[in-house]
Amino acid sequence: MADKRPIGVFDSGLGGLTVVKEIIKELPNEDIVYFGDTGRVPYGGRSVDTIKKYALQDEKFLLSHDVKLIVAACGTVSSVASDIGNALPVPYFEVVSHASMAAVNATKNGKIAVIGTNATVKSGQHKATILKENPSLSVINCACPLFVPLVEEGWYSENDTIVLETVRRYLKPIIDFGADTLILGCTHYPVLSKALLRVLGDNVTLINAGTTTAKAIKKYIYCHNLENQNGGEHRFFVSDKPDYFKEQASVLLEKDIDMCKVEKVDIGNL
Ligand code: DGL
Repeated sequence: MADKRPIGVFDSGLGGLTVVKEIIKELPNEDIVYFGDTGRVPYGGRSVDTIKKYALQDEKFLLSHDVKLIVAACGTVSSVASDIGNALPVPYFEVVSHASMAAVNATKNGKIAVIGTNATVKSGQHKATILKENPSLSVINCACPLFVPLVEEGWYSENDTIVLETVRRYLKPIIDFGADTLILGCTHYPVLSKALLRVLGDNVTLINAGTTTAKAIKKYIYCHNLENQNGGEHRFFVSDKPDYFKEQASVLLEKDIDMCKVEKVDIGNL
């Protein structure tokens, strides 16, 4: 049995593309419908109620495209609205649990750091998941609110002095703590991986939530006979600035995104 319906992925903006990139690697024959809420990004500084309201609208939009599963490719939504997938008629994947488990398995010195938006760090979801699995581990959380605007602006080169200085300031407590494993708790952050490693050194393992979640999705799809053998079409919808999204998406996904595949939509009334 095959299921030709697309996989639905949403994020507050561009960051979820780091998850899409990993899904394409794992499942090149799947169709994907992506929604980036570029008109309302960032979510990370907003209240829990507002983040939940936006996430529900994002999900409704994806469901209107008859998706077979939904991926909240947003660390903030996954952390503060962990119950948001409960009422969905399709399977739901978030980006906290698989990344947390990967960190538990990766650490050698028992010290794990989590970076994310203010909302993600405040939720404590990663720490709770890690300590539930192994209470002897130590976890430090650091909010890095300037990372999302840097990425949305296209500033993420490891040779950019502003990027490096911002990374140095935010990661100082993590370096002092001596973590050997760093969870990128926001899906925008993998874009900054080279800058992060330049500051931390190559001995620190970065956990990309996109990689771990994409592997979990692949496993689920194969176990439940939901695979599409002949797809591979990717459609992108945004709530603002489709031209800018196309430009950045082509860089982040390392392939040219055809403009006709990026559409602006208004989901405010869903
Ligand atoms: N990609 C979102 C996340 O993973 C960006 C954060 C935001 O919108 O504030 O948290």
